[in-house]
Amino acid sequence: MPELAYVNGEFLPIEKAVVPIEDRGYQFADAVYEGIASYNGNLFYLDAHLDRLERSMQALSFPTISKTEIKKAILELCKRAGIARAFIYLQISRGVAPRNHAFPASAGVQFIMTIRPVNEIPENIKEEGAAVVTTKDIRWGRCDIKTVQLLPNVTAKQRALEAGAHDAIFVAEDGVVREATSSNVFIVVKEKVLTHPLTPRILPGITRAVIIDICKDLDLPMTETFFKVEDLYGADEVFLSGTTTEVLPIVRVDDRAIGSGLAGPVSKRLLAALQERGNRPAV
Ligand code: PDD
Repeated sequence: MPELAYVNGEFLPIEKAVVPIEDRGYQFADAVYEGIASYNGNLFYLDAHLDRLERSMQALSFPTISKTEIKKAILELCKRAGIARAFIYLQISRGVAPRNHAFPASAGVQFIMTIRPVNEIPENIKEEGAAVVTTKDIRWGRCDIKTVQLLPNVTAKQRALEAGAHDAIFVAEDGVVREATSSNVFIVVKEKVLTHPLTPRILPGITRAVIIDICKDLDLPMTETFFKVEDLYGADEVFLSGTTTEVLPIVRVDDRAIGSGLAGPVSKRLLAALQERGNRPAV
């Protein structure tokens, strides 16, 4: 099960993969990324990830690089690595050029990937639920673009771990709950599932969209609507959604117990349905 890297068309061991120091991703965080997981060797909603990547690149006026080319490289990386439950990290930067804020005239792009086994959240945390803290959302106004400028996310995650929690949830100035550091947030109130609507303030998570679809399948009432931190504290259930997070029940927020204090039935049902979709044989 080799962990592999890909750098602009070349496949190589991760420890041998390097990019030049004047990569704009390195100097300006001028790069976009995706994180994609596989179940039994099948990539979960690959086309949805490629569509979002294309939207991120277009939003930042990156030079075009075709989805077909990207897909071909991803499939080849997966084939070479042969990891059944893999996490593919893919990053595209606005190329290498002498440091200058303005976009370079013709730098092309740098396209890199890594593939490794998924770093799974331990089974007991998935079953018993995790604790989170809330934190002020100090991020820029285009969180819908999946860029590598993640310092607010990185520091919030670290502070959460230092406080004995699993993650942090970003809350806006006016108390609106946005998302967690690398996942979306859902609450369940009186058997109704709620999540933040798609706006520039959150990432349009692929898992989020799959969960909304599953709610339809299961006839679970669901609404995309704003809710506040008090709603989070008072919810019957809270859960996070993300590519490797899947559905993670949250049982404590800022040291307050959520609902019964145990992983809730809706969260458990949605996790099982999500994993079932992942493990379905490819058609
Ligand atoms: N994170 N919100 C943020 C801020 C994220 O970074 C992510 C994904 C999500 C969930 O999106 P998806 O369901 O498409 O994974 C929501 C990736 C996995 C990461 O940074 O590793």
